[in-house]
Amino acid sequence: MAGKKSLKILFVTSEVIPFMKTGGLADVSAALPQRLLQHGHQVRILAPKYGAIDERKHKIHEVVRLQDLTTQIGKKEVTFSIRSSFLPGQKHRVQVYFLDEPNYFASRHSLYTDPLSGKDFSDNDERFILLAKSVFELIKQLGWYPDIIHCNDWQSGLIPAYLKTVYKDDEDIQNIKTLFTIHNIAYQGAFGKSTCKKTGLPESVCTETKVLHKGKFNFLKAGIVYADTINTVSQTYAKEIASDPKLSFGLMDVLKKRKSDLHGIVNGIDMNIWNPEKDKLIPHKYSVKKLDKKKENRAALAEKFNGEIDDKTPIIGNISRLYSTKGFDLLQKAFPKLMAMNIRLVILGTGDKKFHQFLEEMAFDHKDKFIFYPGFDDKLAHLIEAGADIYLMPSKTEPCGLNQMYSMVYGTVPVVHATGGLIDTVQNFDEKTGEGTGFVFEKYNVTSLIGELKRAVSIFVEQPETWTKIMKNGMKRDFSWLNSAKNYIELYNKIVQE
Ligand code: GLC
Repeated sequence: MAGKKSLKILFVTSEVIPFMKTGGLADVSAALPQRLLQHGHQVRILAPKYGAIDERKHKIHEVVRLQDLTTQIGKKEVTFSIRSSFLPGQKHRVQVYFLDEPNYFASRHSLYTDPLSGKDFSDNDERFILLAKSVFELIKQLGWYPDIIHCNDWQSGLIPAYLKTVYKDDEDIQNIKTLFTIHNIAYQGAFGKSTCKKTGLPESVCTETKVLHKGKFNFLKAGIVYADTINTVSQTYAKEIASDPKLSFGLMDVLKKRKSDLHGIVNGIDMNIWNPEKDKLIPHKYSVKKLDKKKENRAALAEKFNGEIDDKTPIIGNISRLYSTKGFDLLQKAFPKLMAMNIRLVILGTGDKKFHQFLEEMAFDHKDKFIFYPGFDDKLAHLIEAGADIYLMPSKTEPCGLNQMYSMVYGTVPVVHATGGLIDTVQNFDEKTGEGTGFVFEKYNVTSLIGELKRAVSIFVEQPETWTKIMKNGMKRDFSWLNSAKNYIELYNKIVQE
């Protein structure tokens, strides 16, 4: 019976497509709620309204009851409103609430970092204290009490902490359950101890057993300690962060204490957006049955390079945030060897300044072989997925990863490092059985990466039929949200019953 109950879910996130995105969290924050709604659950999203979000385009409107709300952040009284819109869609349109506040959000175009200095905004603690606090104002004003608040990453880490302390005796709120999803443990929201006072949490909470971690106020830890249940975005990553001090970025012991409440649910991909049969952003639609058309997309991508590219020269693509955790330190080391191979390489992304600089220099030095597009460009991202032959994903750690799944669905064979969600989604090609959807390198070093890439390239060049088989193996895999959404619903039900 309980399994059939329609649940009320508030999904709190710091990014959601098509409004704003820096990483995969934004994709998940749209796709999962949409699926939940299709399954008959009531789901609403809450996210900040950053300056770059176009109100008119997205038809964001005022809600009478949610105007001019106030709360305290430390000694400051902060006035904010919550506005409303919907995720685009036909039948199932998920409602999105936007936290609207001029100073912390509306006046800033970027999400977390100052574009001038490249550094995190110094008041990110206050910004995301406000996000957490606004949750309680929202539900109280609306009188809409969710069964579950689904919190995502450090930016919503304080919600479970408020619920279990400040609101523990509030009859309307105390029974609401929380699920805390860790999309990436490398980002923890660590601030000086003085942040604690700003939160308004009881002082007893500001200790190393609760929200302090190594002397810092840690938002992610707050989520881990106080949420009813925790999950991360693949099973391997769930094991890794609870057993490996490095991969847990210092939080292993905290997670170990909650091991029985720590789950792994691999993300799905949105097959309305990432689907070569329907994709409006690519020049030629194709499918496993009409694979020839992929070549035309390849030709469109090839045009971006100087000179002709014959079909024995694989085009390798990568779309990423440019950080060491995504493998850019390794890529930098491997670059001379990469450029010595008969390949073409195209990278699209933003991130760490030092990698920007490096890639710009390399693009200058290797004009015919390598193109770097700094920035975020959705159309180009789709063209790279559709037009490339190989997708290189050398992440040092990867909670789930979405691009390797997009690649497989597009018949673009991934070459990935054996870590986290990459292990759970890419099956290493086995020449004896002909099974596999990509290439997986074991060790995080240049030899291992180049070795596996050379294995891929030699099959691409010398055994085109085998290559086509690998492409098809990937295209036939089901990465849709169907199963993952069911797993989330099961988990919600389990929490609600506890
Ligand atoms: C983060 C992780 C990525 C994951 C995504 C969505 O961006 O780095 O691995 O796929 O969140 O969960």
